[in-house]
Amino acid sequence: MSRTLRGRDYLSLADFSGEEIREILALAVTFKRDQRSGHDHGLLRGKSLAMIFEKPSLRTRVTFELGMRQLGGHAVVLGSAEIQLGVRESVADVAANLERWVDGIMARTFEHATVEALAAGARVPVINGLSGLEHPCQALADLLTVQEKIGDFAGSAAAWVGDGNNVCHSFLLGAAKLGLSVHVATPEGYAPDPTVVAAARTAGEQTGAVVRLTHGPYEAVAGAKVIYTDVWTSMGQEAEKAARARAFAPFQVDGKLVAAADPEVVVLHCLPAHRGEEITSDVLDGPHSAVLDQAENRLHAQKALLALLL
Ligand code: CP
Ligand code: NVA
Repeated sequence: MSRTLRGRDYLSLADFSGEEIREILALAVTFKRDQRSGHDHGLLRGKSLAMIFEKPSLRTRVTFELGMRQLGGHAVVLGSAEIQLGVRESVADVAANLERWVDGIMARTFEHATVEALAAGARVPVINGLSGLEHPCQALADLLTVQEKIGDFAGSAAAWVGDGNNVCHSFLLGAAKLGLSVHVATPEGYAPDPTVVAAARTAGEQTGAVVRLTHGPYEAVAGAKVIYTDVWTSMGQEAEKAARARAFAPFQVDGKLVAAADPEVVVLHCLPAHRGEEITSDVLDGPHSAVLDQAENRLHAQKALLALLL
């Protein structure tokens, strides 16, 4: 197994090369196949992971906890009320304590600076389990799902429709590093972070991937083999819900928009979905949807990540 990933933090897709992402995906494919055949890898026997949650979670919580257990290790869950990160104790002090007990830390935080502070304060790998800026574990599952559904990334395009948010940022960076172009359609004022877009475009210069920003969902999905959407109001933005609902209404992923893409288009959503808002139920539950494969792939992709980093 690779020595280049051992001990590294995983805060952003920007920190990993295309080759490193491919290595994680290749191991995820092995884990997925082996799990189906009942093979148990004890690669993390005796190792432990602390999981910090400042925000709610279903998929991240379950897949990291089971992933550790399936690899022979175990996970300890710390809720925000419990440790009161930065209130009861500074982030640096929490990191300094945790590194004495565990082999890795996974954290879901409001501020991206918090996962960075944990990484700065702990000598064990810190994994970003979603911050306000990125969701890099989600991107691994997304890319694994795209690979399963459409094969090679190069020469194909995905459409991101909706908010240029944390999930969008990680997907953009990962896709560009693997050669998948992304057409991003957002309302004005909700485009992805320009720094992330610039980094994705730079990565795309090596792989041929193009990042296009538009305000037209139909323009974005034309020819796209993947349509990806996410909630209009992310965790922490609840006060903006009404304004966002108005701005995003024309960006709903419905049957008409899906029909305007490639006939075999794959529809992705990181979940949880708000049915009837960013996506209609007929699309979410319909023949193009791969959202549950995506959710399942969180497990396989993160097991690969854990096995390589810890
Ligand atoms: N997609 C995702 O991260 O789901 P949870 O918020 O349930 O962990
Ligand atoms: N963008 C969403 C993703 C949830 C998994 C959020 O940050 O709330």
